[in-house]
Amino acid sequence: MRKLNIAIIGLGNIGTYLYKYLRDNRKILTEKNNCLPHIKYVSAKNRKKRRSINISKKLWLDNYLDATKLKDVDIIIELIGGSEGPAKKLVFNALKNKKHVVTANKALIAKYGDQLAKIAEKNKVNLEYEASVCGGVPIIRSLKEGLIANKISKIYGIFNGTSNYILSSMDKENKEFNDVLIKAQKLGYAESNPSADLNGDDVSSKLKILTSLCFNSFLNDNIYVEGIKQIDKTDIDNANKLGYKIKLLGFAELLNNRIYQRVHPALIKKDSYVASIDGVLNAVIVDGKPVGQSTIQGEGAGAGATTSALVSDISSILRGNIKFPFSISIKERKKLKFENLDQRLFSAYLRFEVEDRPGVLSNITNIFSKNKVSIKRLVQNPYKKSSSIIIITHKSKDIFLKKTLREVDKKNFVKHKSKLIRIDE
Ligand SMILES: NC(=O)c1ccc[n+]([C@@H]2O[C@H](COP(=O)([O-])OP(=O)(O)OC[C@H]3O[C@@H](n4cnc5c(N)ncnc54)[C@H](OP(=O)(O)O)[C@@H]3O)[C@@H](O)[C@H]2O)c1
Repeated sequence: MRKLNIAIIGLGNIGTYLYKYLRDNRKILTEKNNCLPHIKYVSAKNRKKRRSINISKKLWLDNYLDATKLKDVDIIIELIGGSEGPAKKLVFNALKNKKHVVTANKALIAKYGDQLAKIAEKNKVNLEYEASVCGGVPIIRSLKEGLIANKISKIYGIFNGTSNYILSSMDKENKEFNDVLIKAQKLGYAESNPSADLNGDDVSSKLKILTSLCFNSFLNDNIYVEGIKQIDKTDIDNANKLGYKIKLLGFAELLNNRIYQRVHPALIKKDSYVASIDGVLNAVIVDGKPVGQSTIQGEGAGAGATTSALVSDISSILRGNIKFPFSISIKERKKLKFENLDQRLFSAYLRFEVEDRPGVLSNITNIFSKNKVSIKRLVQNPYKKSSSIIIITHKSKDIFLKKTLREVDKKNFVKHKSKLIRIDE
């Protein structure tokens, strides 16, 4: 029976779960792949740390980088995390020394994926990263294999379970942002430092990787990123009354030969498929030719879902399926021009909290017409001394929507910073 030796580097949440999975499912994985996945070594930062697994002495590497040099290591599984430091050193050295690499590290792939892919291709080894994007949703392998026939025009969806949990709980449980965040942290859905989830950076890394696979392009940093911290319960309630839900979405799309990458909260129709994805679930939708629309949904994170993706990558290597890390050779990947959002057309929801006095409304609508942003719907909710004005616009260039918001915000009748949330039909 063929056998490949594995070194698992990083024994935290994911590494420990994967170790147990490989230990307990050796037989079935060997049968399915016609090759035995053998855990030869493990390493982490602190050997003395208490873990939920018993590790025999002969498995432990004192220096994790030894895995990149030892002749009896075929596959290195990087589960340290972070785009720099030990994870970067490990993956670069492993590929240079002709070891196959499996990683769940989106930050590393989004930043150094092109350089790493070049080394992997030159050395004819795998660089697999299914677990780096949307955990248990097998979107990377689907793009590389199942959807290989397609010319893709758009990929979008919900790529971050933490922010989706927060937005859907604010809506369903009628709670404010901070209350829901505390609950998410207690339940383990949000990290103690959740900023990358909430400011859109996590989705941005995942989207860059997906864009590159969809459009055969190099990774591109021209991406508009906005998180969910500014969304409050009032916006969620207003969206509901207008027939929408608010979701943090990632989009990569080809429009009139221009590629846009964007991450931002968006109002989407309540009866749309994406609006029905609640809690920590992720969903990815691909528009392609000839397939039409294809959708995958599932658990976006957590040790079980991530291990499912890691084992898919390991199995691909066990079967000897050596592929280009980004689907095609580096020589064929394109340097495409990515556009910023300024010229793209959007309808939008704008909310202004203003003093309730004569002339304010006409002042606002004048700023809209000066910037050629036409109003589709306007709702005014008067309170004691103030008023909340909600405007839904017709499609307008993003640059003019932002300019309109800035100009209104300069007026002394504005009581709080105004809101702009794009609408995706
Ligand atoms: N958690 C998720 O739901 C999830 C989902 C998808 C992808 N991922 C990705 O999976 C990776 C691992 O995540 P995790 O949640 O398992 O992280 P974690 O629990 O923080 O574990 C990190 C591991 O890396 C080890 N480590 C840290 N510095 C090291 C060094 N200098 N040398 C050797 N080992 C070192 C730590 O060692 P000690 O144990 O000795 O401290 C620990 O075992 C990350 O890239 C993450 O983005 C996680």
